[in-house]
Amino acid sequence: MDDERLDERVAALTLERKVRLLTGASMFTLRGDDDAGLEPMAFSDGPTGVRGLHFTDGPLTGLFPNATLLASSWRTETAEEVGRLLAEEAERQQIHVVLGPTVNLHRTPLGGRLFEAYSEDPLLTGHLAAAYVTGMQARGIGACPKHLVANEAETDRHTVDSVVDDRTLRELYLLPFEIAVEDSDPWTLMAAYNDVNGIAATEQTTVNNEILKGEWGWRGLLMSDWFATKSAGPAANGGLDLVMPGPLGPWGPALVAAVESGEVDETVIDDHLRRLLLLAERVGALDAPRGWRTDLPEPTDDVRREQLTRLAAQGMTVLANDGVLPLAREASVALVGRLALETTCMGGGSASVRAPHQVSVADGLAAAMDGVTVVDGVAVRARARAGDFSMHVRLYGASGALISDTVSGEAKVAVGMPEQELAEPVARLVLSATVPGGAMRVGVLGVGSATVTIGGASYDVKLASESDDIGGDFLRPPGWQTDVVLDGPSELVADITVGALSRFGLVAEPTPPGDDAAIAAAVAAARAAEVTVVVVGLTEEQETEAFDKSTLALPGRQDELVSAVAAAARRTVVVVNAATPVLMPWRDEVDAIVWAGLPGQEGGHAVAAALLGDIEPAGRLVTSFPAADGESPAWDVVPTDGRLTYDEGVYVGYRGYAARRAAPPAYWFGEGLGYGEWSYGEVTLAGSVVSVEVTNTSTRDSREVVQVYLQPDPSEGDDQPVRLVGWSTVDVFAGSTHTVDVTIDARAMRTWDDGAWRPLTSGRLLVARGLGDIRGEVAL
Ligand code: BGC
Repeated sequence: MDDERLDERVAALTLERKVRLLTGASMFTLRGDDDAGLEPMAFSDGPTGVRGLHFTDGPLTGLFPNATLLASSWRTETAEEVGRLLAEEAERQQIHVVLGPTVNLHRTPLGGRLFEAYSEDPLLTGHLAAAYVTGMQARGIGACPKHLVANEAETDRHTVDSVVDDRTLRELYLLPFEIAVEDSDPWTLMAAYNDVNGIAATEQTTVNNEILKGEWGWRGLLMSDWFATKSAGPAANGGLDLVMPGPLGPWGPALVAAVESGEVDETVIDDHLRRLLLLAERVGALDAPRGWRTDLPEPTDDVRREQLTRLAAQGMTVLANDGVLPLAREASVALVGRLALETTCMGGGSASVRAPHQVSVADGLAAAMDGVTVVDGVAVRARARAGDFSMHVRLYGASGALISDTVSGEAKVAVGMPEQELAEPVARLVLSATVPGGAMRVGVLGVGSATVTIGGASYDVKLASESDDIGGDFLRPPGWQTDVVLDGPSELVADITVGALSRFGLVAEPTPPGDDAAIAAAVAAARAAEVTVVVVGLTEEQETEAFDKSTLALPGRQDELVSAVAAAARRTVVVVNAATPVLMPWRDEVDAIVWAGLPGQEGGHAVAAALLGDIEPAGRLVTSFPAADGESPAWDVVPTDGRLTYDEGVYVGYRGYAARRAAPPAYWFGEGLGYGEWSYGEVTLAGSVVSVEVTNTSTRDSREVVQVYLQPDPSEGDDQPVRLVGWSTVDVFAGSTHTVDVTIDARAMRTWDDGAWRPLTSGRLLVARGLGDIRGEVAL
């Protein structure tokens, strides 16, 4: 529909009617309006699955590999396929817009939410985001790159002021958004929680109006992050189009009054609404409800399981290998680690979904080969977590009346959501479930005070809030747990007086072995096997929205476990089940290391396929791995006086390591061995295409990622870091040679200089497998 026709619809509405549409109707829905021909629309979180309209007990939905794992394939084809498949997941649930991809950068490795974001590099991030958006929107589902902008850490995320100079903002943090806008025209974007240089992202007229909607000519809808909007007039004037969630919020009557007083011009409101109607038209919510396809795969269908296995395995990254990998299928294997049994398949926070299953490495490897002995490992979690069982949920209001009585398919329940249409707010809840007998760890999650009863014993428990983040307790609730021995199946009951908005839940799992016993058992199993595979890593306690990390060390005694096993085993393979950098003090003690990300619902099958070489783990790191805590160009995530200063400027990640602003990393961005071996020929340049012959000198077909970096000439200035300017992936048969062409992206070959772009025209183009392994170069 052309602008004029949209304008006519806008003009037909009163001011109140217009403003009413510019705040959500509920947590994840928008209002319709018959006179405007507008159908209600539904949004759902991504980016690793489409959770749907509910935080807990929603429909079972496909759980995808996390963003860093997908990005590690360095393939835009992969990102586009993910966008397409997520669109199918959305369509199955009648969702119009999926809230992703996350295109913030890995500025410091401590960022809790890096698992959701692609990379430390803006070019790689931008291209992957554009491909994801293209794949999704080709199916008529809107994408929503987020969070605009400078939202690289979680600490005090609602109030922090990210202080970033213009050049850094342009060259690093805005670039993924710019590329996504230019190459894929996303139908929506999300404004961040934080301030940028003293002004809230939701009120950032420079970023939102001047750059995004002005300079880049973007016509889409800019929504706020959830509960981020702080004002009526300044946000409406600052380029924000839609307040989420609803139905309450700072707009409504206050925005009508702001128009009436002249603070906001009505044409500003009209522009917001025009963008909303354009979105509706694009997703099929204008004039008639969309016809939803119903012939789509379920998350448990073979086709989806194959896709999710392949997407995960191909991004896994071989960091070390003395030849033990791929594993011989007939080898006797000791598989060790708590995360072998309880593999972390996803991160925590709004990206989490209710998956149909999460295949552990133990189940995956046992399904793929005989001769696997599984041994539990040391503890990896410090906190209680909700169990995987259904529970009875009774909610009571302040009057004491029972206001809801249901059975939840999950042992967690969200309380206090705007769309929970209850007769009165919840003051108390009673959760109960039958748990099996034997040695059990039981407990409760949430904020408030609880009486927990089990097996004749009763415990009074205080669950204090652990976060001043509005969603913090909700996304990672506090908990309490204890170990009991039960004669037989018993009723676990938690009677909770609600303290605050939170997710509440029950804990019940077999009591795990103590760490000393686990290490001793692992060492004994390692001695008896030909190969020992140890799975170590992080959990949703570290890889989560709303909280940052304070160390990159593996939690618990996992390092000790690896060293003990490596000393006893004939061959040791370590699988790192984490999305983001961890320290590996044992890396010289082991024979192979495979970084496996958070691999999604088919995780264990993907790890097995990668270890056995059924699918090549052809990933290359998307972020540099520091050698020690503190040794990265940017580290701190804790604001000082409310300000988080990006004082490393443009020297983020590998750009900073290469400029010696930190000790060399343990592993470079771009590093990854795959199962091939490569020799490189001479590098040539014609126009903007770099060409090089690569030969796969191994005996296996393999995939190479040819990376081109620009090392600017000193004449361009003494503050121009090396940067990725293009790459290409290529599949090459064993023993074959292939000429690879890499097109250089002009958007990486420029610098923001005194308020304008200046092209960089002199320097050297380095062809590298990560900057620790440069294979050739050519002068620009
Ligand atoms: C997150 C967003 C998310 C939104 C809705 C916020 O806390 O920052 O990324 O889309 O919640 O769940």
